[in-house]
Amino acid sequence: MVRRGGLVAFPTETVYGLGADTFNEAAVLGIFRAKGRPPDNPLIVHIASMDDFWLVARSVPESAWRLAERAWPGPLTIVVPRDPRVPRSVTAGLDSVAVRMPAHPVALELIKASETPIAAPSANISGRPSPTRAEHVVSDLCDRIDLVIDGGETFMGVESTIIDFTRDPPVLLRPGPYPVDKVEEIIGSKVIVTNQARGFGEADRPLAPGMKYKHYSPDTPLVLVEYTGDLEELVESVRSHVARALKEGKRPAILASDETRSRYRDLEERGAKVLSMGSRRSLAVVARRLYHGLRLVDEIGVDLAVVEGYPEEGIGLAIMNRLRKAAMTFPVTT
Ligand code: TXA
Ligand code: MG
Repeated sequence: MVRRGGLVAFPTETVYGLGADTFNEAAVLGIFRAKGRPPDNPLIVHIASMDDFWLVARSVPESAWRLAERAWPGPLTIVVPRDPRVPRSVTAGLDSVAVRMPAHPVALELIKASETPIAAPSANISGRPSPTRAEHVVSDLCDRIDLVIDGGETFMGVESTIIDFTRDPPVLLRPGPYPVDKVEEIIGSKVIVTNQARGFGEADRPLAPGMKYKHYSPDTPLVLVEYTGDLEELVESVRSHVARALKEGKRPAILASDETRSRYRDLEERGAKVLSMGSRRSLAVVARRLYHGLRLVDEIGVDLAVVEGYPEEGIGLAIMNRLRKAAMTFPVTT
């Protein structure tokens, strides 16, 4: 299917991707069309062996190669100079290319069977939360693509960590499941982490082209309450947002956690919907459920959703990056 120029949605360990033959420009343009993706937002090229790296990269810094050998297959994307054979539409005109080897048997088999690196962004309509289940892909892209391979719920739930090795020192473009400190340990030097990578604001010139767009958002307005280390303060702030919404006659939802959900029972009795994203003690589970939770918000018929923030540790960095981009952010003010 991929060899014939088709568009195939497939599971990876992070989120579902929408893939096409990297070297088939017409097919690649079909990805942008199906997603409604702006043409200046480049795709990630997925490979199944280290040899494939040379099909798409013009050069690979020694430290990036060492990192790839350790981290792949896995949730890490490495940006390196682009080989001229990679069509410009894949990289949105950039001289660099983003490459990753996914840790999912279905994804690896698909790439091998297709005998070509597969260019793939996440398999959602542009701007929507990324798909972590085949149903999410079907609901966004059903009649616009050729095939969806259902591999069940994805394991990690947020997209890969992206590190740009065309800069020295390397720069974190997007936090994800692969830890930055692990990268630093392997390459033996620091990685630059900007505020932008944490999900704050818009710089004049975004580092990763995809960073300037609205992202991961449900259609329902989302209010994020930042976590500053005091759970009591967080709960109080969420309560005041929700109480105000109820008073204004709105129907609010709360994206709570196992530890806090009982604190909203009275608001629930007054009509607020309360969902738990999981336990604060296992942020990996919160990450896995994140996009499903954001999609649910649009399905349960509410006017706004108030979501609790999490500590920016480990995968919490990726969770907060996504939530800040999806929401209007309110610092705790009580
Ligand atoms: O986990 C993942 O990375 C998933 C699965 C399917 O592999 N893919 C994914 O793709 O999240 P997408 O298109 O949703 O995000 C790709 C990101 C965008 O933010 C884009 O700007 C950035 O990668 N990117 C791609 N090529 C780049 C380049 N040459 N330089 C800088 N950023 C690049
Ligand atoms: Mg995406």
